[in-house]
Amino acid sequence: MKPKKVTKAIFPVAGLGTRFLPATKSIPKEIMTLVDRPLIQYAIDEARAAGIKEFIFVTSRGKSALEDYFDVAPELESALRKAGKDQLLDILKETNMDSGAIAYIRQNRPMGLGHAVWCARRLIGNEPFAVLLPDDVIAAEKPCLAQMVDAYEQTGGNVVAAMEVAPEKTSSYGVLDIAEDMGSIVKAKGMVEKPKAGTAPSNLAVIGRYILTPKIMTNLNKMKQGAGGEIQLTDAIAEEVKSGKVFGYRFRGQRYDCGSKAGFLQATVAFGLARPDLRDEFASYLNDMIALQKAAQ
Ligand code: UTP
Repeated sequence: MKPKKVTKAIFPVAGLGTRFLPATKSIPKEIMTLVDRPLIQYAIDEARAAGIKEFIFVTSRGKSALEDYFDVAPELESALRKAGKDQLLDILKETNMDSGAIAYIRQNRPMGLGHAVWCARRLIGNEPFAVLLPDDVIAAEKPCLAQMVDAYEQTGGNVVAAMEVAPEKTSSYGVLDIAEDMGSIVKAKGMVEKPKAGTAPSNLAVIGRYILTPKIMTNLNKMKQGAGGEIQLTDAIAEEVKSGKVFGYRFRGQRYDCGSKAGFLQATVAFGLARPDLRDEFASYLNDMIALQKAAQ
């Protein structure tokens, strides 16, 4: 039997974004732009491409710019229409959401990713759901979440996006303990959040895309604080390994950690170079910069 379709997605965006202070004092991290699109737009496009119809944002104080971003902007649109700027009007259309397709839930204290997801429990009800962390941006021919929907339909279990990382990096991630490696899909027998150096069960790290069964919400109901004093989503998923229903999915694509400064800069370069309208000028500038750096060494 095919599992129930995934049509709801949670976007937890209530974190403090401290790694980008002072910018994030007044700008939500998810509004920071790669070339000319905010991080949140990449996540929304990816979710839409995977068949998501309901978009649930878990927000907090100071995130109103994020909410405004999805509203229709009548003055701007009429000015563009009058000026005959149809191409720009088309670009704006991508940012509009159908009435009722988007919901905002408040997380009143940043108690961790697990807690943020749990805040959306009443909107999820008894359905499977996706979770996308917008600061993980994934460049892929077939969008990552759509690849994961296929894996979910194949396994019927919880599917987490996974990628190999260097052993010294495992302590920054949730890490899978592998029961069975089937290639792109991996069955997990455990999952540990931010393992101490030298204790990681593998180097297969979980990144910010999940397809989860409603049981995860039930598990979150009784969760206590885990690593870092936060309520961890990893712990609620790890509870399901006993039932053989947790799978890692090695997605095809390049992930950029835009929650970190280095990752954000790398993504800016990659997305800039991928844009036909910018590529030549940008590449030539980068080449000059590299030549200057080398000359200075
Ligand atoms: P991060 O670990 O990147 O935390 O959260 P952060 O607060 O966004 O950034 P730093 O580390 O202080 O720089 C991963 C994701 O989980 C969300 C964040 O908004 C981000 O999308 N999150 C985290 C919440 O929604 N609530 C929380 O309590 C914690």
